[in-house]
Amino acid sequence: MIFTRATALRGEITVPGDKSISHRSVMFGALAKGTTRVTNFLRGADCLSTIACFRKLGIRVDESPEEILIHGQGLSGLSAPASTLDVGNSGTTTRLICGILAGQPFSCRLTGDESIQSRPMKRIIDPLTLMGARIQSERGDGCAPLILQGAGLHGIDYSSGVASAQVKSCILLAGLYADGVTTVTEPCLSRNHTEIMLKHFGADINTHGTTASVRPGRPLLAQDIRVPGDISSAAYFIAAALIVPGSEILIRDVGVNPTRDGILCVCRDMGADITLLNQNRGNGEPTADLLVRHSALHGVTVGGSVIPTLIDELPVVAALACFAEGTTVIRDAQELKVKESNRIDVMVRNLRAMGAHIEATDDGMIIEGGHPLHGADIDSRLDHRIAMTFAVTALGADGETTIHDADCVRISYPGFYDDLRKLAR
Ligand code: S3P
Repeated sequence: MIFTRATALRGEITVPGDKSISHRSVMFGALAKGTTRVTNFLRGADCLSTIACFRKLGIRVDESPEEILIHGQGLSGLSAPASTLDVGNSGTTTRLICGILAGQPFSCRLTGDESIQSRPMKRIIDPLTLMGARIQSERGDGCAPLILQGAGLHGIDYSSGVASAQVKSCILLAGLYADGVTTVTEPCLSRNHTEIMLKHFGADINTHGTTASVRPGRPLLAQDIRVPGDISSAAYFIAAALIVPGSEILIRDVGVNPTRDGILCVCRDMGADITLLNQNRGNGEPTADLLVRHSALHGVTVGGSVIPTLIDELPVVAALACFAEGTTVIRDAQELKVKESNRIDVMVRNLRAMGAHIEATDDGMIIEGGHPLHGADIDSRLDHRIAMTFAVTALGADGETTIHDADCVRISYPGFYDDLRKLAR
């Protein structure tokens, strides 16, 4: 797909539902008693993988354009799948479902695409094993395919080496099936959608700083959930409006949970003009409309506890840094290497191809902004966030940018290019 420089972005947009919250609504709905109704569910390939897995585990899920109905069977209502569970490209499906499967009285096998089969699963295998789970990497390399066999679980007090909501959620979900309290502490707070939503479903879950604990024994009860717009998807339009002179856009109904809003904090630090309007709250998740105007940006240092709050937005921050005056340093972001692609490597290669002054470091990138970019051939490495980042970067570059395997955006935002075209005519 080919992209060229844009004139001003103007107008309003509503981005699709939050991916993390959509996944959780299906999973917790499946474990609850009764029918959970979900509106604004993200119909991206990752969330559809979660639905497909739960169908294989015996849960009826009805899909219509307006809503998703999950006919939950309670915590003990899953049944053994007839064949391997396919998680596709989805790390969230893989890690969270393993927490649930670890506590089931049946065995199963789980795998996904090439990218999933290279992502680290030892980070969940270790704590689940400590809980008494029987979980193995089939090839013995700490990656999927994974084999799980039913086992009784014990509560643990776990200190995680990484700030990862997927790891935290996996352990807390296994904790629903343990014989005592399970506690997880992380080095800094990662997204807390699991804690918020499990509480809504009736779980006995409590948080204190970077620690979350779950006490098993309470049933989960079906809920009505309205999924807010995904701030990770909104980030591409925020960046586009900031990059292209004369832009002014309104992005409606975006989730602005403080464990996810690092992109807003960092953009503002860079000098961005972003206003939050209509601040609201639904199902415990804060939302707002975002008014974004083109702004002169300057370089910043991004590191420490803000990193988990914008981990998926760091590629687009690196792109923005090319349009900012001065140097931007992204550090403490080693996790970028184990996402859908090695996002440090792929950002540095592709931005360099466009003329950017960027260097990889062990835990991030250093970008010297203010050097004009030109079009190039971009290898998305089938990573949805890379494809979207370069579609936006191209709007501020001279000449033509060609993005290969551009349709990988279907993972989290199937209508992305249509929506971008609506704003950037
Ligand atoms: C997610 C957590 C993050 C994020 C991913 C979604 C979640 O991963 O990158 O896109 O829904 O819990 P990590 O937990 O590996 O940081």
